Amino acid sequence: MEERIVLDEGRFLADLEELGGIGAAPGEGRTRLALSDEDGEARRWLVRRMEELGLEIRVDGIGNLFGILPGEEGTEAPVTAGSHLDTVIRAGALDGAYGVLGALAVLRGVRESGTRLRRALAVAAFTNEEGVRFQPDMMGSLVLSGRLPLEEALAARDREGLRAGEELERLGFRGTDRVTPGAYLELHIEQGPRLEDAGARIGVVEGIQGIAWWGCTYRGQANHAGTTPMDRRRDAFAGVADLSRSLRELAARVPSSVATLGRVEVRPGAINVVPGRVDFTVDVRAEAPESFGRLKEEVPRLLREAAGRHALELEAEALADAPPVRFPREMTDLVDSCARGETDRVLRLASGAGHDAQFLHFLCPTAMIFVPSRGGLSHCPEEHTEAADLLRGVRVLARGLIALAQREA
Ligand code: GLV
Ligand code: MN
Ligand code: MN
Repeated sequence: MEERIVLDEGRFLADLEELGGIGAAPGEGRTRLALSDEDGEARRWLVRRMEELGLEIRVDGIGNLFGILPGEEGTEAPVTAGSHLDTVIRAGALDGAYGVLGALAVLRGVRESGTRLRRALAVAAFTNEEGVRFQPDMMGSLVLSGRLPLEEALAARDREGLRAGEELERLGFRGTDRVTPGAYLELHIEQGPRLEDAGARIGVVEGIQGIAWWGCTYRGQANHAGTTPMDRRRDAFAGVADLSRSLRELAARVPSSVATLGRVEVRPGAINVVPGRVDFTVDVRAEAPESFGRLKEEVPRLLREAAGRHALELEAEALADAPPVRFPREMTDLVDSCARGETDRVLRLASGAGHDAQFLHFLCPTAMIFVPSRGGLSHCPEEHTEAADLLRGVRVLARGLIALAQREA
């Protein structure tokens, strides 16, 4: 790295802690579902941080938030880094926040070191990456990449029937700007066990596996638990239990795939009533395009078969479909060389989790940097990464952003 910047490590760690406090409850991690009050609070907090740094703030139609540090060539096509502020339910403090605050720390370092770069830098926080409240997930980056019409995204409804567009307006984050990154780097915790298992300190992410989601309902007949003979039941939960086994078998059959029934709501949900209805979700993922294609083909069949075996009616809606991507070689090689400037314990791997980079990839040269997750835990309050690893990741990001920003656009 020709240009050196000084990173304010203490400030970065303090920012992580402060942001992690938004939406936090004792023993429950934090919950900042997309476009909730807590997400709004996190957004306002980030805007204040961006303002303190004198960044140019832009908000686009789906509420993606950008803070731009102009380069010698102006503000066009900024070299961008970021992630998301929204979380799953009972989340850790790092998923999403780390990438946003890592980027902010680099821009702060560039500004405070008086470093002059050819191209603009931007920190980005994309709307609704997690997809827990509104589907599809990675909504902000999907819209930005042109792969989901804005109007369709704004019309997405949560389970209370509230629309994403209305929530965005309510929070004051429905903007009119348009920012098109010229390159994108996303810093993230791995959220799995591979770096830790390999004793690696930095992961060079070669790509992201495909993700497909369905929202489903099985309808049977609620009935008395004591009087209904086992062979006369239409037990909707029995259908889901059966499906759960079929999905596990599917994941065992299709190489390197995973399958999850993450939300299962049994109705009426009483000790002495045969479940008459279950609403549930299915999440399947695979890295190889053939495997991903097989999963998408087989899930609807498995849903129908389990329904048939238990005399249930089935409703199923495809909620998300993110294709597997592989980042360009030139970008992964850049991350690799930046990583090796900080450590020789580097592992190349694919991401098991979805990220905004999955769609930024369709817009501009993109890559990702991972740091280890203790015990491979994430999407839970126990999520943790050592401060030394977090800081190393930020230094790798700084090297990458500066290298990209010094290139000709
Ligand atoms: C987001 O974190 C996902 O991978 O579902
Ligand atoms: Mn994330
Ligand atoms: Mn996540």
